[in-house]
Amino acid sequence: MNVMDRVKVFCLLVRIVLTCGEASKILVVFPMPSRSHGNLGDGVVRHLLNAGHEVTYITPFVYKNPPPKLRTVDVSATLDVIPKDMMTIKSIMDRTIVVENIGFLIYMMTQVLKTAVETESVQKLLNDPKEEFDLVIAEWMFSDVPAGVAAIYDCPLIWLSSVEAHWMILQLIDQPTNPAYTVDIMSTYTPPLNFWQRANEIWTQVKIKFLNFVWLDGLQERAYKELFAPFITKRGKQPPSFDDVRHNASMILSNAYVSTSVAQSLPQSHKYIGGYHIEEKGTALPEDIKKIMDNAKNGVVYFSMGSNLQSKDMPDEIKRDLLKMLGTLKQIVLWKFEEQLENVPSNVHILNWAPQQAILSHPNLAVFVTHGGLLSTTEAVHFGVPIIGIPVFADQFMNVAKSVNRGFALRVDLSYSLAAELKKAIHEVTSNSRYAEKAKELSYIHHDRPVKPGVELVHWVNHVITTRGAPHLRSPALHVPFYQKMYLDLAAVLVILFLAGRVVLKKVCAAVCSKKKSSTEGKKKNN
Ligand SMILES: *[C@@H]1O[C@H](CO)[C@@H](O)[C@H](O)[C@H]1NC(C)=O
Repeated sequence: MNVMDRVKVFCLLVRIVLTCGEASKILVVFPMPSRSHGNLGDGVVRHLLNAGHEVTYITPFVYKNPPPKLRTVDVSATLDVIPKDMMTIKSIMDRTIVVENIGFLIYMMTQVLKTAVETESVQKLLNDPKEEFDLVIAEWMFSDVPAGVAAIYDCPLIWLSSVEAHWMILQLIDQPTNPAYTVDIMSTYTPPLNFWQRANEIWTQVKIKFLNFVWLDGLQERAYKELFAPFITKRGKQPPSFDDVRHNASMILSNAYVSTSVAQSLPQSHKYIGGYHIEEKGTALPEDIKKIMDNAKNGVVYFSMGSNLQSKDMPDEIKRDLLKMLGTLKQIVLWKFEEQLENVPSNVHILNWAPQQAILSHPNLAVFVTHGGLLSTTEAVHFGVPIIGIPVFADQFMNVAKSVNRGFALRVDLSYSLAAELKKAIHEVTSNSRYAEKAKELSYIHHDRPVKPGVELVHWVNHVITTRGAPHLRSPALHVPFYQKMYLDLAAVLVILFLAGRVVLKKVCAAVCSKKKSSTEGKKKNN
């Protein structure tokens, strides 16, 4: 070790000692106007506060009484960005909207971010020259633009992903995954893939890469330059290129775990923390619901389509059929439904709001009827409850397909014959014990980790802060261009060598042959 190295090591040690156990200032960026994404952001904030950090939280869901070390920055304006009728059950059933379109999604997410950043509260935050942060945690949701926030404060960035690791996000810290055995985020295929599925997966990657190249990269780069670059300049720095900024995250923490996702190989800077949003202490059931569930001799069916999709948007005839069908069940039904219904059968209880985790943890719960959102699926696995999935959009199809594959779920399609199909499925799941057994088995896998996911989250946050961005976790693949990874340069050299060799060989051969020929011809003449 030379003197310079010693000084560097000393400085690092001093920094670690100084920062260890000390509160850091963390900016959490979760502008998505969706309750489930809000729940994920809230979970991050809760763990950071418990670990003693000072948190600034950009969220559309304002806290009524924020705890002492939390400052919320209100971006509820984003709630108006996504068209109100975009995610109603009826509009999806009648196919009046297409939510799986990737170009539309990226465009939409950029709009959401723009609206968030342009709100007065965020402008005030970003404009304050005295404001400093030790870390930015931003949700990755089909947009790389939020990386620009970390560039303003010149601090490390951690992406939080709401779903299992996938090629679009992994390429930000490593490289796209191999489509032969890892599927796109919107895909419903489960590896192993057959020939057509593999072809389809590579086509998806190529298609999206092309769209990025001709359109979406430019869109995002302009958003970065417009939204964040001025603040960087204001702090007297040259704004880095968007490409550098978006590939500069220290880590990705994904809200998934092998209990609910494919066991793919992952870079060191990616960690699974699925289930961290669930309150470890558990929440108590309200007295009335507790009494209902305690007394349910034939078990309870819990039916909830999540917080984005409201059951009240279902077409009327479906509501009527469902209510009639649920009345014929021997189980007690808890139906999370946002409006009052008439002629509710005696075994059906309508809940305007449902304490989902507490309901799922009750021993009398027999089955969870869900839209198959990742949070609901994760919670079902956490509490070991079998599910019936009625997927409606985006990753729900994939989640339900995977749950079915794992043997603890059945899928029912959202259609005008929903009630009849659902009845069959409820009968199957509650009378055949294999679904519940499988759910318990996965629940065991989900919990059998060295540390709880919330502890792991805090660990990596602290690690990234104390090591100033954890550069030692960075994947070397990030700095190697595509042609080098594929050895296209070596292939080119080999081809050139081969061609050159062939030319030389031909020349030599021609020379030798013509000599032979002339000598044999000479012999012939002599004869
Ligand atoms: C990348 O992140 C590090 C911290 O992890 C930061 O110091 C650096 O300025 C960032 N570079 C760019 C180009 O954003």
